[in-house]
Amino acid sequence: MHKDVKKKLLTQKEIRVIVYDIGEQIKKKHSGKEVVFVVILKGAFVFAADLMREVSPDCDVRIVFMKLSSYGNKAQSSGNIKVLIDIEKDDVKGKNVLIIEDIADEGSTLKWLINHLKSKKPKSVETCVLLDKFEARKVAVELNYVGEEISNEFVVGYGLDYAQKYRGLPYVGILKKEIYS
Ligand code: PRP
Repeated sequence: MHKDVKKKLLTQKEIRVIVYDIGEQIKKKHSGKEVVFVVILKGAFVFAADLMREVSPDCDVRIVFMKLSSYGNKAQSSGNIKVLIDIEKDDVKGKNVLIIEDIADEGSTLKWLINHLKSKKPKSVETCVLLDKFEARKVAVELNYVGEEISNEFVVGYGLDYAQKYRGLPYVGILKKEIYS
């Protein structure tokens, strides 16, 4: 285990089970259909890569990326959202869209994203998160597919970072407090 990690929250094996379970739910609803994964960089790319392989070829997965900025290097969300990389209107127009996120924290990012994508006239918009940090929620948001509910801890690994570090860890771990405080 990485020396900055206090405890593993999800092992590689547990993540595999979660990805399998969410994949089954997505296939149940979207099998034989085209689904556009809107993957939110950077954190969600690892989860999205595993999930798209789980649901293919049952689902015809298309993948597009958005990059938003809300945290910077701080451990607290500012609530401000800036679009750094956007999609084209035709990427989602008339399509079944699935927003892929690593984590729902305060909820403001997903709330904003749902509105942003709906303005591009998709057929449907759903949300899929690996982690639901429900205790931190400030804005109500509908989560259609959830991997794991977690308590209010600072988590890293499997795409999630602190100051751009730890994204490559194959598990989700709780970061030691002295690293970020
Ligand atoms: C994190 C996470 C979500 C967002 C959730 O991204 O990946 O996109 O914050 O926060 P909220 O629910 O409080 O709005 P971050 O800005 O850290 O960028 P990153 O994915 O590039 O690390």
